[in-house]
Amino acid sequence: MECITISQINNWKKNKNKFAAITAYDFSFSKLFSNQGIPIMLIGDSLGMTIQGHASTIPVTIQDIEYHTKAVRKGTSKSFLLSDLPFMSYYNTKEALKNTAKIIQSGANMIKIEGGKWLIEIIKELSSRLILVCGHIGLTPQSFNYLSGYKIQGKEQKDENQLIDEAFLLEEAGIKMLVLECIPEQLAKKITKNLSIPVIGIGAGKYTDGQILVMQDLLGINQGKIPKFAKNFMSEGRSITQAIQQYINEVKTGMYPNKKYSF
Ligand code: KIV
Ligand code: NA
Repeated sequence: MECITISQINNWKKNKNKFAAITAYDFSFSKLFSNQGIPIMLIGDSLGMTIQGHASTIPVTIQDIEYHTKAVRKGTSKSFLLSDLPFMSYYNTKEALKNTAKIIQSGANMIKIEGGKWLIEIIKELSSRLILVCGHIGLTPQSFNYLSGYKIQGKEQKDENQLIDEAFLLEEAGIKMLVLECIPEQLAKKITKNLSIPVIGIGAGKYTDGQILVMQDLLGINQGKIPKFAKNFMSEGRSITQAIQQYINEVKTGMYPNKKYSF
């Protein structure tokens, strides 16, 4: 089966076809999600928490992401795979190139890095070597110490302006996709409208081009603190496949995320 491509994803943005993405970390769920029609899966460094049981994403290594990317790729030849570069694995261009190679060789189609202005040179270098890069701004869990915890970003006017500027700068530098995490719905709407690349939201309201959720949140497996934006699609007695269909359907029709799940 042919793999979904970035040009297809670009067309979904252009044609306003909303799409549902999900994190995946292993072969079995990868196969199930892909068979249910999930077009994009993220091998997120959230695996530090959901799989390894750490309190943050900070301990995750490049070897961890390689291992899980390989397992997820074994489950699908169709879904577009996006893998995180973990904490401090892209602190300069050389490290970013070296570690990106490992992840792409493990089966990812695109890599994701967290941050704003400081990434410009790194993104330019990766893009000039024809690597697909996804940005990630707003709540960036790798900097939770600096941000004083996991909370909504971009509420003050100056923070809003900074996020808008960063989104533009990153697009200009060459990112081909952007994740917005935990920001007000209206700010995410503005950024999505003004960028030509697809924007995927998590806790960023309903106006982004796509949505993403951590699989443990959407399947009701998370026994810890549930983020406000996370909806458990397993409630009402659904099976896993029904829950995934419901998620895809609610994203496509704009039912999810409604006000209850937005800032
Ligand atoms: O690691 C992850 O799961 C992520 C998503 C929350 C976007 O980066
Ligand atoms: Na992540």
